[in-house]
Amino acid sequence: MKDQIEAIQAEALASIAAATDTRSLEDARVAVLGKKGTLTEVSAGMRDVPKEDKAAIGALLNTARSAITAALEEKQQGLQDTADRKALEGIDLTLPARALHHGSLHPLTIIRHQAISILRRMGFALAEGPEIEDEFHCFDALNTPADHPARNEKDTFYFDSGKLLRTHTSTVQVRTMETQAPPVRIIAPGSAYRRDEIDATHLSVFNQLEGLYVDTDVSLGDLKGTLEYFLRELFGSATEVRFRPHFFPFTEPSFEIDVKLHAKGQAPRWVEVAGCGMVDPAVFEQINASRKDSTYDPEKVTGFAFGMGLDRLAMIRWGLKDIRLLIENDARFLKQFA
Ligand code: PHE
Repeated sequence: MKDQIEAIQAEALASIAAATDTRSLEDARVAVLGKKGTLTEVSAGMRDVPKEDKAAIGALLNTARSAITAALEEKQQGLQDTADRKALEGIDLTLPARALHHGSLHPLTIIRHQAISILRRMGFALAEGPEIEDEFHCFDALNTPADHPARNEKDTFYFDSGKLLRTHTSTVQVRTMETQAPPVRIIAPGSAYRRDEIDATHLSVFNQLEGLYVDTDVSLGDLKGTLEYFLRELFGSATEVRFRPHFFPFTEPSFEIDVKLHAKGQAPRWVEVAGCGMVDPAVFEQINASRKDSTYDPEKVTGFAFGMGLDRLAMIRWGLKDIRLLIENDARFLKQFA
């Protein structure tokens, strides 16, 4: 039996050494250690070994088994190393990695985040409303008479139902006052729609950010301080800001706000960035009529409102000459914000 075990061990080690892949290695393992393997069968013969020889034969069997197992493991590792080396053949691992493309936020998203974060710090809460609106929320409640040019079919997108695409997000101010009592301090960023020919400074869908503050003692001074602070936070503390008298149906007095633009290689010039004013008492009356109460009593509450185009702020901020850059998704343009 001793000879037999030694012969099995020698044969197994030889076939393991001869194995050229994991498959032939596995065959060699099964042939010796499998259920019907040569060593397994010899081990079964232990039963018939005389008592006095059992210890010696047992030890021999164990030695053979460990030698074979060790050889199997070593060979397996060797095959794996060869396979790895083969897989990497011809690949220069010292070459630099290919650079990943970095995505970036769209400039409009960047400026919107900045504007919102400044205004939130000043106590304004975000408000939302529908983009498909009715004439009441877009015009009537905002003291805009039926014959006002903005209500013209040439300027506003109407649906057959009489509904329309909101021309400004002032609609959200109306909706907020309909459901909330003062103090109200909200901002409404969102899309607005106008039937404008698309050119370097106009889009028919643009991005607005409007704000409203109504309380018992809101003054023109609050309006001026708030918007000057906002614009200096956005464009830098040295930014010059000017309020120019204007007209809006829903505010009185009304202003347009300009900031002084210092573009490279150009003489400084004023550019308009926002409209604003003190909420017209007629708007409060409309809100009261809609609420069927007198919560917004024009004798008791005052407020200011403002609105600006985020697209325009982005153009000023980054010196863009054409607003269409913001909607064309040209990677060469967008990459610059990464
Ligand atoms: N709603 C005005 C617009 O779209 C902007 C504005 C808002 C002006 C609030 C005054 C007060 O042009």
